[in-house]
Amino acid sequence: MENLVNKKINDLVSEDYVFGYVLHYFGVSFYDYPENTLEEVCIQRGLDVQQLQRELESIRKPSLTRNNLSNYPVDLIIQYLKHAHHRFICQKLPYMARLIEDLNEDLIPNAGLVRDLKVLFPLFVEDFIHHIHEEEDTLFKYVMTLQRASVGDYHWGSLYYQMKKYSMSFFALDHHSHDDEMRGIREFTRDYELGKNPTLHLQVLFSELEALEEDLKVHAQIEDELLMPKGLRLENLVKEMLRRQAKNN
Ligand SMILES: [Fe+2]
Ligand SMILES: [Fe+2]
Repeated sequence: MENLVNKKINDLVSEDYVFGYVLHYFGVSFYDYPENTLEEVCIQRGLDVQQLQRELESIRKPSLTRNNLSNYPVDLIIQYLKHAHHRFICQKLPYMARLIEDLNEDLIPNAGLVRDLKVLFPLFVEDFIHHIHEEEDTLFKYVMTLQRASVGDYHWGSLYYQMKKYSMSFFALDHHSHDDEMRGIREFTRDYELGKNPTLHLQVLFSELEALEEDLKVHAQIEDELLMPKGLRLENLVKEMLRRQAKNN
């Protein structure tokens, strides 16, 4: 980090866009200090360089992959997915919303694109947050009910009610229709095409949009290919368990 402190913010972010996010995490918009060195910004904003470095390293740590997760029990997969939801809503999306809000129309050749993004992005965020809440309140809760029921922990009335109301095949089909959430933004930006002489601000934003799309794809794959099949197996197991119980009564 020592050699980094004397570098200009613009250079640091140009070399590694993640730096823009780390600075945002500490309340600093990189485009407000393009010509200042990191040391100057840290002094001016009362930041601890070591802390900045720790955050940068923790962001770079590889997260669990789909393959690692496949052997995990369903409750841990749900914990992982909820944690990812939290990260999207509380960290990534506010950063990107800020990047879009602060885009200066005068500095970008295509001012229409900036104006439209300012309208489109909040709509995408609204839809996405709705999707997350619905998922946690219905699908995740249902799978957890099935998981507990499969080991005998259930209340007959509420289990019966939930199995009448929900089904894994419905959730699986419905989820597929939300798999390409960023399509509107991708098409609108023509696959994140930057145009001529883009500002660093726009480069960082488009790179973050592309990375978000990739993250959302992996997230949806974990839900479609790991959570849904595990939920379906549990649902069949619980149905069979209830059938046998009804026979014996
Ligand atoms: Fe999700
Ligand atoms: Fe989802």
